[in-house]
Amino acid sequence: AGRLSYDPGFMATASCQSAISYIDGEKGELLYRGYPIEQLAVSCDYMDTCFLLLKGELPTPAEKAEFNNNVADYAMVHEQMQFFFRGFRRDAHPMAVLVAIVGALSAFYHDSLDINDPIHRELAAQRLLAHMPTLVAMSYKYSIGQPFIYPRKDLYYTANFMRMMFGTPIEDYKINDVLVRALDRIFILHADHEQNASTTTVRLAGSSGANPFACISAGIACLWGPAHGGANEAALSMIRSIGSVDKVGEFVKSVKDPANQARLMGFGHRVYKNIDPRATLMRETCHEVLNELGLNNDPLFKIALEIERVALEDDYFVSRKLYPNVDFYSGIVQSALGIPSNIFTGIFALARTVGWIAQWKEMISDPEQRIGRPRQLYVGQPRRDVPPRQK
Ligand code: CMC
Repeated sequence: AGRLSYDPGFMATASCQSAISYIDGEKGELLYRGYPIEQLAVSCDYMDTCFLLLKGELPTPAEKAEFNNNVADYAMVHEQMQFFFRGFRRDAHPMAVLVAIVGALSAFYHDSLDINDPIHRELAAQRLLAHMPTLVAMSYKYSIGQPFIYPRKDLYYTANFMRMMFGTPIEDYKINDVLVRALDRIFILHADHEQNASTTTVRLAGSSGANPFACISAGIACLWGPAHGGANEAALSMIRSIGSVDKVGEFVKSVKDPANQARLMGFGHRVYKNIDPRATLMRETCHEVLNELGLNNDPLFKIALEIERVALEDDYFVSRKLYPNVDFYSGIVQSALGIPSNIFTGIFALARTVGWIAQWKEMISDPEQRIGRPRQLYVGQPRRDVPPRQK
């Protein structure tokens, strides 16, 4: 291979330098711009987190007010986008719709496409951040045949999203602060996660000079896979299929069987070899939400706790360092909030958009940035001549 190194899955390849987020997989630690995720989840809201990821520091109150205001200003999407939605089947997966709609933003906003112009870059960042809740809510409303609900400027980002999801023209959504805070925390926990598959996709797409809307659309397409952002939907359906606490032991046993291709969804991680700190926070959030809704005896939560208990005592999982990841509890929380499982990955995409944008901006401004172009080890036919073709 000469001086090429072969590293399928990029197990040992750093593709870039980054100052945005940091994971210590052995300790189970995640930092955004140096701040531990546990502290951000308690002391900050998602808008603070977005400002931090994009600009490097937490906002002052004045900066935060201005940031909130700017994002709220761009929450409304181009009215023409409604027709774009209408071209889809109602039963299309909302992720399929999101990939297309976000890519299509580049056809709507010609004033945000020049990646060499800082004003264009800023506008694209604000539009993406502000549009995602509106677009995810529209993809949901479209799938259930309800009218789109327009955003409101006076509401906080996450409350606005919940109202666009659950409000209707005949009955406005009653905002519950505990539930808004829970979803806001889900957003914080998903906001960035260094060079995961979708972020790497965004960077790779962006390295060719592609416009930011196209890059984020590529990230959404990658996130959709069940080994990545699709895992929360898969984890919840796995928990549902187990059905009751007494069946957990048998199920966990079946997952260990090498003849069986099944995996314990929401378990394991390429980088964390200890409990994912986001999973611990998600478990707490799950408790809070179920308590608020009077669902303390939720059977799905009980099954999840039992899976965690059984797996963490089982040598198969212990020896492979397989612990719950962020997706294990997030499906239960989202489902308790009234979010249907086909929207879970859309929620992940919404929350991760800020991380993707921050990483894209960092890449664009890096003087060492070049087009991403991996090499390969060729294992095909050696040079040979085309044989005479039969007429
Ligand atoms: N259940 C059962 N066995 C597992 C699991 C699991 N969830 N995850 C890994 N293993 C086993 C795997 O079979 C292999 O065993 P062996 O060494 O005997 O062949 C060993 O553990 C190593 O697995 P791997 O596939 O080489 O590990 P990876 O780093 O390539 O994969 C992963 C990481 C997250 C894709 C994988 O753990 C997985 O498929 N988990 C389930 C899906 C999931 O929860 N994904 C969400 C990840 S976190 C959020 C996000 O990134 O979006």
